[in-house]
Amino acid sequence: MCGIIAYFGKKDVAPILIDGLKKLEYRGYDSAGVCLLSDGNLYSAKVKGRVADLEKIALSLKSSNIGIAHTRWATHGEPSEINAHPHFDCKNEIAVVHNGIIENYTTLKEILEKEGHKFVSKTDTEVLSHLIEKFYSPTKILSEQNLGGQGNLEEAVVKALKLVVGTYGIAVLHKKENKIVVARCGSPIVLGVGEGENIIASDTVAVLPFTKKVIYLNDNEMAILTENKYEIKNFDGQVVEKEIDEIKWTAAEIEKKGFKHFMLKEIFEQPVSIENTLRGRIDEQLNVRLTVDIDLNSIKRVLIVACGTSWHSALIGEHFIEKIAKIPVKVDYASEFRYRNPIIEEGDLVIAISQSGETADTLAALREAKNKGAKTLGIINVVGSTIGREVDSGIYLHAGPEIGVASTKAFSSQVMALLLFAVFMAQHKKLPISAGTDGEKELFESIKLLPSKIDEALHQADNILSLAEKFKNSKSFIYLGRGLNFPVALEGALKLKEISYIYAEGYPAAEMKHGPIALVDEEMPVVFLATKDATYSKILSNMEEVKARGGQIIAVVNEADNDILNLTKNIIIVPKCKEELMPIINTVVLQLLAYHIANLKGIDVDKPKNLAKSVTVE
Ligand code: M6R
Repeated sequence: MCGIIAYFGKKDVAPILIDGLKKLEYRGYDSAGVCLLSDGNLYSAKVKGRVADLEKIALSLKSSNIGIAHTRWATHGEPSEINAHPHFDCKNEIAVVHNGIIENYTTLKEILEKEGHKFVSKTDTEVLSHLIEKFYSPTKILSEQNLGGQGNLEEAVVKALKLVVGTYGIAVLHKKENKIVVARCGSPIVLGVGEGENIIASDTVAVLPFTKKVIYLNDNEMAILTENKYEIKNFDGQVVEKEIDEIKWTAAEIEKKGFKHFMLKEIFEQPVSIENTLRGRIDEQLNVRLTVDIDLNSIKRVLIVACGTSWHSALIGEHFIEKIAKIPVKVDYASEFRYRNPIIEEGDLVIAISQSGETADTLAALREAKNKGAKTLGIINVVGSTIGREVDSGIYLHAGPEIGVASTKAFSSQVMALLLFAVFMAQHKKLPISAGTDGEKELFESIKLLPSKIDEALHQADNILSLAEKFKNSKSFIYLGRGLNFPVALEGALKLKEISYIYAEGYPAAEMKHGPIALVDEEMPVVFLATKDATYSKILSNMEEVKARGGQIIAVVNEADNDILNLTKNIIIVPKCKEELMPIINTVVLQLLAYHIANLKGIDVDKPKNLAKSVTVE
């Protein structure tokens, strides 16, 4: 949700910033801007639209080795050139890029306007540049030639931030100071430590081309970048010594590798990403090995908080943990959890599931749970993310970077991590693994075969493309499933709506007759998750009900038997495996269906309108 990048080094900064913005563009892409500092002057450019629209102008600005840049996901003020970042003070001496929301900006703006400050944009961010202006004192500058940072930019930034209520990751330039001042509260900031150069970004993907050495800023910390150097301080001005971490991802992992879109690449990566989630976690004696640093004996209840796709995986995890580990589970939308004043009791474990590890609602729910004394566990993809650092213990997905705004491989890895956790708990409690009818050994056998089964499901790509051709102009879809396939129905519907802009609703199949069946007619495609599990015969009846009302059935099945063929010819056949793993395979084909429909409609699948990958505002 907005991407910021800043660089101070020896190289020409504009191409670095543009390249970084392209990597961060999945965080927001309605407008973009850049500001460079050269010989005591600021040179800036802003556009409404994509980073590609900014590129040419930015590259012709000025040669410089210090700069800041931003790609925006609008919160306050519509997408426009004037609302694009950076934002400036009255004298155009201070430039600010910001990710987050200044909640008390109207009050601050009123005060500043009374003091004579002139605002040009409708953004909350602009109060920051004027506040910094208010507190900035150039008196320490000895002469106009002395550009070595003699003013009080750091101090002015801290004074400004102390008045602010809200969240921010910011980078600030002053035309008379050879430095970049960066600060964080609630929005992620990572510092890449290079040789004679330092780079700041909202996400490690933009840092990776330069260095794997990173420092994650905590809330209420700032980084000051000067020539060859960086310093981390708290808001009281004390220097904070921080450890340098190493990013495990490679720069190659954030390339499209010949695929038209990141989303398509990430769908096809799932056989490998699942293997990576499993690696080293099941030993030869079929014991699940997880480093969960929590007293497992004390866990009496599990609460799971998550958003969007991660919430759907949580619903599947609820089945696993209750059925296999015999622990009661409650799943909450993270955004709702915090505001219902949840009861946390001794023995509660709160699991936060998040691909990015930065989702503001999930982070807020986690903090609420911690404040109330819960033990916390994270199921997270991005190592070093805020949630990853704040939980008591974590299970990392190791699914690799997920760049497509629509989450795909993170979902399958989350489901796998939840299954591992359920089995891990059951083994710890010495419970028999009651998964399916054949027990433990068969479950592990099936887990081992899962990557090849996903591969097999992906071979349906051409058939799915034909179905996408047939249904791409439908106005709305219903997705139905029961049991473990109900969250799959939700996820299939979410994928379709977020990238194709077709309204879609996921529902428990049996609930359909309590309302949504009123929508069914010959125009309405109804996607059934009808793979062979305990609810199969019931699902067939639900399909009959839709057929009787003229609905167009698309069925995801294990076998095109006569029962199915009598109901529909729109069939996606997926390989059979243990019931617990079918949600992963079924979701993979629904991801492809959504992808092809969106792609055939000419939508930029990786950057669907109104969305951002990482939702870092509440
Ligand atoms: O990074 P997180 O898993 O916390 O993100 C949660 C949701 O914002 C995310 O899953 C969102 O719903 C995706 N766009 C779904 O494809």
